[in-house]
Amino acid sequence: MLETLNTIVCEVERDRTLERPEQLRERIRAMDRLEDVMQHEPSGITPAGLAVIATLRRRAKERHATLADVQQRLCDAIRHAIKLGAGAHALRGWVRHDDLLQPWGYDHLDALVGDVLALDEPVSDIAPLDTDMVFYQPTPVRHVLDLIERARLTSDDVLVDLGSGMGHVPLLVSICTDAQAIGIEREEAYVSSAQRAAAALRVERARFVAQDAREMDTSRGTLFYLYTPFTGDILRQVLDQLRREAGRRPFRIATLGPCTPTVANESWLRATREPQADRITLFRSIA
Ligand SMILES: C[S@@+](CC[C@H](N)C(=O)[O-])C[C@H]1O[C@@H](n2cnc3c(N)ncnc32)[C@H](O)[C@@H]1O
Repeated sequence: MLETLNTIVCEVERDRTLERPEQLRERIRAMDRLEDVMQHEPSGITPAGLAVIATLRRRAKERHATLADVQQRLCDAIRHAIKLGAGAHALRGWVRHDDLLQPWGYDHLDALVGDVLALDEPVSDIAPLDTDMVFYQPTPVRHVLDLIERARLTSDDVLVDLGSGMGHVPLLVSICTDAQAIGIEREEAYVSSAQRAAAALRVERARFVAQDAREMDTSRGTLFYLYTPFTGDILRQVLDQLRREAGRRPFRIATLGPCTPTVANESWLRATREPQADRITLFRSIA
């Protein structure tokens, strides 16, 4: 075990490329490895071994602090760019195509965007969910950036995130595109967090509404996004609302997760490519 811990610390200390801002994926992975060293709990080890571990922990902590500093400077630069209205340039282009090969779980992009958006924990209690409502889990950032890339949103677009949680989809859409974005979320504490983040970053094109999606005004959205916020009867009711809206004008829907096959079965929608639950799927309404 000592040898493994030593190898980690030596490798991460030696690799100076980790200090380059663009080495995000590698830096976050290295920081995770250093955290493993820092948190290692030795057992059945000699006093000499304990001393070696203490030294390795100290070195790991120092190297971690250096990399955290690089990370903080990158995050501050992106936040600054967002406040100046240049967030699209600062945030787009981070996704590599192989990032999407791993559909689930969170990665280096979530770590970066989490720091950039600085979404604070809700200050009040979270209300229990009713049947068919899905608990808050954010869309992994690589999928949000994939959605932004593929949807080619313009200033004529309004993205509506149904069940927007703490709001990072509307926030990223408003930062990275010229579109408006609206988050509809039943949990008021999440809505307040999203509003605080938008105000702190001066993101004016994102709006958040504390509301049940079944009561939303469907008339404004040009792209409705569902990261499986609800299932069963609620999903049915919302799809029926959207079908009625599609009778008045065309729009698009994007999905991710288990709601995708249900949405794909709607006769008034056409997927732009083979629907897949683990990739963003875009649909167009047909009259
Ligand atoms: C899986 S999370 C999706 C979060 C966000 N859309 C994202 O992609 O990062 C589902 C969210 O939908 C919300 N939700 C569930 N049922 C809802 C409803 N009927 N109306 C509005 N929000 C709802 C939950 O509170 C939760 O925050």
